[in-house]
Amino acid sequence: MAQIDLKSIIQNMTLEEKVAQLMQLSGNFYYGLAGEITGPFEEMGISEFVVKNSGSVLGVSGADTVRKIQAEHLKTNRHGIPLLFMADIVHGFKTIFPIPLAVGCSWDMELAEKSAEVAASEAAVAGVHVTFAPMVDLVRDPRWGRVLETTGEDSYLNSAFAKAFVRGFQGKDLAVDQMRVAACVKHFAAYGAPEGGRDYNTVNMSERQLRESYLSAYKAALDEGCEMVMTSFNTVDGIPATGNKWLMRDLLRKEWGFDGVLISDWGAVKELIPHGVAGNEAEAARKAILAGVDIEMMTPCYIRSLKNLIESGKVTETLLDEAVLRILKLKEKLGLFENPYRAADAVKEKEVILSESNREVACELAEKSCVLLKNDNVLPLDKQQNIALIGPFAQSSDILGAWSWQGEVDNTANLHEALQALTTNVTVAQGSHVETITDEQVTEAIEAAKAADVIVLAVGEYASMSGEACSRADITLPEAQLHLIKQMKTINKPIAVILFNGRPLDLHGVLDEADAVLEAWYPGTEGASAIANILFGKVNPSGKLTMSFPHTAGQIPVYYNAYNTGRPYDGVSRDHYLSKYLDIPNKPLLPFGFGLSYTNYIYENLRLSSDTMTADEQIQVSVTITNTGNYTGEEIVQLYIRDMTGDVVRPVKELKDFQKVSLNPKETKEIQFQLTEAQLRYYHQDMSFTSDEGLFEIYVGGSSEDVLTGGFTLKKMYTNLND
Ligand code: GLC
Repeated sequence: MAQIDLKSIIQNMTLEEKVAQLMQLSGNFYYGLAGEITGPFEEMGISEFVVKNSGSVLGVSGADTVRKIQAEHLKTNRHGIPLLFMADIVHGFKTIFPIPLAVGCSWDMELAEKSAEVAASEAAVAGVHVTFAPMVDLVRDPRWGRVLETTGEDSYLNSAFAKAFVRGFQGKDLAVDQMRVAACVKHFAAYGAPEGGRDYNTVNMSERQLRESYLSAYKAALDEGCEMVMTSFNTVDGIPATGNKWLMRDLLRKEWGFDGVLISDWGAVKELIPHGVAGNEAEAARKAILAGVDIEMMTPCYIRSLKNLIESGKVTETLLDEAVLRILKLKEKLGLFENPYRAADAVKEKEVILSESNREVACELAEKSCVLLKNDNVLPLDKQQNIALIGPFAQSSDILGAWSWQGEVDNTANLHEALQALTTNVTVAQGSHVETITDEQVTEAIEAAKAADVIVLAVGEYASMSGEACSRADITLPEAQLHLIKQMKTINKPIAVILFNGRPLDLHGVLDEADAVLEAWYPGTEGASAIANILFGKVNPSGKLTMSFPHTAGQIPVYYNAYNTGRPYDGVSRDHYLSKYLDIPNKPLLPFGFGLSYTNYIYENLRLSSDTMTADEQIQVSVTITNTGNYTGEEIVQLYIRDMTGDVVRPVKELKDFQKVSLNPKETKEIQFQLTEAQLRYYHQDMSFTSDEGLFEIYVGGSSEDVLTGGFTLKKMYTNLND
């Protein structure tokens, strides 16, 4: 690839052209095409010059559309600088995969990577260059609507998924492999910890907690070569991330060495004003550019103020040139100066998008993302059984999730159609809407249930009840559906519930009433087929929760890697003055790492190669697992540790490794893990990242609560190893 002299391009650009390069606008500014510039630019105070010299556009796809906009843009841009096309390809482009919170439950990095590769290929032929993904915000609060976009509450697992998604999106060389897209890790940082679980709300935490739990996955994505970072809407230590110099310059760019493009989230630069740290657009622009934000998404602070700020000496032109250079470097990395149209190809769109092989990946990932939460001998179903399929999701294709953007429900089979493909013995009745129910619906449902051998209830949240700006204070199923479940209970037939939801729910009135519960999340384009395959035992469910299910919203936040406190409650002690509730247990309803199978696994013989370790040694941890049932299955074996005495308090459990193992009926396998001193390090009082001498416990099992326990002592203290 010929080297482009980017710096000389910048030297030949006017101040206005350089500022325009930092502007990102939505597609409606460019529609009307044939070079006409439309969109609300007057009300945003954006001139036609700015649109014609802008650096990137978001939310546009379609090979023909992208090619037309790019061609027009190149005609008007003095320097032949191509537009960057960016979009939210969070869990699929047209072939929609399960939501990331579901993919997290697969614990399958290979499939996660494959799903990102497929998404990238479909987006690339549709003209997209950059995806605003992976979203790796750690979450502990299911009231927050955006938990659906993340892989859960554990930083180790989120980091592994972050790497897998970046590998899938970007491949090895973006200039060579034009069927990939640049990734943009988001939302930097700690957007997933808003007070009250209310979206965009204040985030308040210590630097230690930020580093220990919330930053790991962003860093993992960048270590994997992620090209871009998106700022978050929230404050970090009282300073909005988008204007936070410590977070963006000191930590992201200096400490972590990130020199890629930093883009604001939508409107986040101008939001420095309502946050109360900028009195006007000029102040907001100054704070953002000083913090190192290169692209302003969808607000005109840079456009309207940066030129004056530079001419008045309040901002150096060097900062502007550095931002422009980072943007042009990304365009160069994508090969856009050579080929501004990259992979955009209307013919290829027809071959690649929603191909049979892409659908197969989506189905397999959906099968591995479902989690069996309960099964009192109801599942799998027999094809001879008469099934009454009832509920608002029985015939609904609203199973793509809130961030499925280009996903089309008419390309999505519903559960009734999927079951009918496997058996003719299905009667369907709606039973209720998501939030309302009528007597007629109940009557029809009761009739169907009475005539059946087994009731399958398809219930859940509208996809629009999670996602951005969709936090819920009450995370139970809507009352109408709880009423439907109660009515079905009176029929005294086995009940299997299928849940379609974008967050852990308060399962009162569901888990206790049903005989079996399958958590399907929003399983995507092939989700209904995946569920049908599981219901009929073609697939043995293997998913494990990566986010705790609370007993009630009042228990939030509840997560597995919590601290012990000075007055720990073991669940049985009669002492009064302990850290406990009067009305619910301390443990979550369903813990991190939990998931059932159609078979059973027995863990035995936990053995450590030694009961002591020095920093230059490893401890081998082994355990045997036996499949005692009649189904072949995949078990996710989890390894946790606990540092019994730290320089600061340590979690009661920390996930450090896991393995997926396939076992035939009655088969026994030995699983081995290697544990090193590096896995024992954490941030000390002086913020050094080191390990402690002393006793550690080890836990191995099929969930964070069902474990075998062992122990060892680390013999050597280490000095600061902040590598
Ligand atoms: C939204 C979201 C962000 C998304 C961006 C562009 O506000 O916070 O995740 O990538 O805008 O759509």
